[in-house]
Amino acid sequence: MAAIVSVQNLTKSYEGGFTALDDVSLDIEEGEIIALLGPNGAGKTTLISTICGITVPTSGHILVGGHDTITDFRAARQLIGLVPQEINLEPFEKVRNAVRFSRGLFGLGRDDAHIDKVLAQLSLSDKAGNQIKTLSGGMKRRVLIAKALSHEPRVLFLDEPSAGVDVELRKDMWQVVADLKKQGVTIILTTHYIEEAEAIADRIAVINKGQILLVEDKEKLMERMGRKTLRIELTEPLERIPESLSSWDLELAPDGRALIYHYDSQSDSTGITRLLAAVRDAGLQLRDLQTRQSSLEEIFVGLVHGEDDAA
Ligand SMILES: Nc1ncnc2c1ncn2[C@@H]1O[C@H](COP(=O)(O)OP(=O)(O)OP(=O)(O)O)[C@@H](O)[C@H]1O
Ligand SMILES: [Mg+2]
Repeated sequence: MAAIVSVQNLTKSYEGGFTALDDVSLDIEEGEIIALLGPNGAGKTTLISTICGITVPTSGHILVGGHDTITDFRAARQLIGLVPQEINLEPFEKVRNAVRFSRGLFGLGRDDAHIDKVLAQLSLSDKAGNQIKTLSGGMKRRVLIAKALSHEPRVLFLDEPSAGVDVELRKDMWQVVADLKKQGVTIILTTHYIEEAEAIADRIAVINKGQILLVEDKEKLMERMGRKTLRIELTEPLERIPESLSSWDLELAPDGRALIYHYDSQSDSTGITRLLAAVRDAGLQLRDLQTRQSSLEEIFVGLVHGEDDAA
């Protein structure tokens, strides 16, 4: 598949000299859903705004559908729908008019059938004639998505789409994203909910301090980094790990009441059977055993903290 968005060596320093993006390169394939994960201030919104031409890059190039976002701005922008992080709606405007107006901004002719389709897709049909100020926060976010879809973009950017949205609406939104993907729309979203990335993304990009730490297929990432943990709870606390178990990669729980063993569940031999025999031979009594798969959240926290430690 060809890249529909290609970010090449992008750097953005704001006035005052703060570097929010530091030599970022990223190719986004047509039809994929990519989630940008990163802590507050990592540069996610700056990256999205620069691709959308709202923020001017300090150096580097961006192509959208092959069009340079600086030299061929209009053609590039036409392909993009943007749902901003901040809600910026006109409170007295009615829902359908707001969406229709957005389409007009792109110089496209009126197409009420398309507007109605978008409103229906976002479950806004019965609110079409309501003033925006009468809607709840979650509904307003849907109006933002409808506006972003008004000109039939091929690439949709969602900056924190589920901030302030309750669990039920968030799941509805995931459905909307899945439907758009089926229609061939490429989706780039930022989120603080790792669960959200886990649920809907095809690929994950982790960004911290203006740099991309990793871009990887979600399933592969979880397989590669998602280790399993076996927790062996003991009847009597230990002060230290017995000498006979020193060849195993074990950790002692802070209260001494459990041995923790990390292993790769994909490998042919996890070593668990031999380990349990060795624990028994060391004269230890087991109270309980638990296994746990590390989540994307732990992988993410490990990556971002690892980066801090290295700095
Ligand atoms: N207009 C601006 N002028 C100066 N600095 C800015 C400007 N906009 C953003 N920054 C700084 O750039 C850095 C990245 O900000 P950005 O909004 O891209 O982060 P983010 O990853 O979207 O964070 P969040 O998760 O909080 O939305 C931050 O340190 C921020 O303070
Ligand atoms: Mg942001």
